[in-house]
Amino acid sequence: MEITRVNLVYFSPTQTTRKTLRAMASAFSVEVKEYDVTTNREIEIPVFGADELVIAGVPVYGGRIPLLVEPFFQGLKANGTPAAVVGVYGNRHYDDAVLELADYLREDGFVVCAGAACLAEHSFGHEIATGRPDAEDLAKAKEFGEALRKKLEAAEDAGKLTAPEIPGNRPYKARGTAPNTAAPKTTDACIKCGICVKNCPVGIIDPADPSHITDVSKCQRCFSCVKKCPKQAKYFDAEGILKGMAMLKANCAARREPEFFL
Ligand SMILES: Cc1cc2nc3c(=O)[nH]c(=O)nc-3n(C[C@H](O)[C@H](O)[C@H](O)COP(=O)(O)O)c2cc1C
Ligand code: SF4
Ligand code: SF4
Repeated sequence: MEITRVNLVYFSPTQTTRKTLRAMASAFSVEVKEYDVTTNREIEIPVFGADELVIAGVPVYGGRIPLLVEPFFQGLKANGTPAAVVGVYGNRHYDDAVLELADYLREDGFVVCAGAACLAEHSFGHEIATGRPDAEDLAKAKEFGEALRKKLEAAEDAGKLTAPEIPGNRPYKARGTAPNTAAPKTTDACIKCGICVKNCPVGIIDPADPSHITDVSKCQRCFSCVKKCPKQAKYFDAEGILKGMAMLKANCAARREPEFFL
């Protein structure tokens, strides 16, 4: 079958998911369109056609897709559009996230024909999976794109595409139910440049005073504000985050490799 456009649909606060998806798309020579829903989940998304490919990507949060974008991915619309689902995780595990994304896209009318669990530096700092995806990860992501392109070329139509075996469990891993109390703090180094304000996925950083979080309960602990601040003025000192980081350092330091399901 012929693919006329590749669509990347993603949520990516610290942009490793975006980087991974772009490497996959680089294996195709057709137009690549991006739907980035990191800060705006209300953008107009077309009903995807049977001659398009969608590569959908999310960071793994607690072994699941981020709760914030669950309704968005459940609400996409497709007409037998081939799709690849990608979970990007910070060297602990992806648990049920890739399977969950595949399930939602199938319910939306996509033909899920590929999946991937890829590696990225953990959002919580620079110590776990530092600098990933690295050149090796991106080369493997492009190879996956090439294998996906060949799989699509070899199929007569989307109905002939085989479904990948994606690891994971149903019911999916339970999400934490406690209300969020952790939010970033800000040092005097802040120059009020507004970068964190513009990039916060839930718009809770006060433009008039970026050290003020308008609604702590909405914070995703995505670390976009921490990693994008040019003055390193944002930080978390909440016990849960510090404990999480210590657990990662103790148990998740060994390099994991991306997995591809075709
Ligand atoms: C709230 C939160 C929960 C996370 N949970 C996991 C997890 O369960 N397993 C894991 O390996 N990484 C986990 N991570 C790390 C992210 O999956 C990883 O850093 C991801 O690549 C970030 O994607 P982005 O750069 O597109 O924002 C978590 C990160 C955050 C912010
Ligand atoms: S990105 Fe950093 S310096 Fe800029 S407003 Fe936010 S906290 Fe201040
Ligand atoms: S305030 Fe919370 S949700 Fe907003 S960018 Fe920072 S960590 Fe992410």
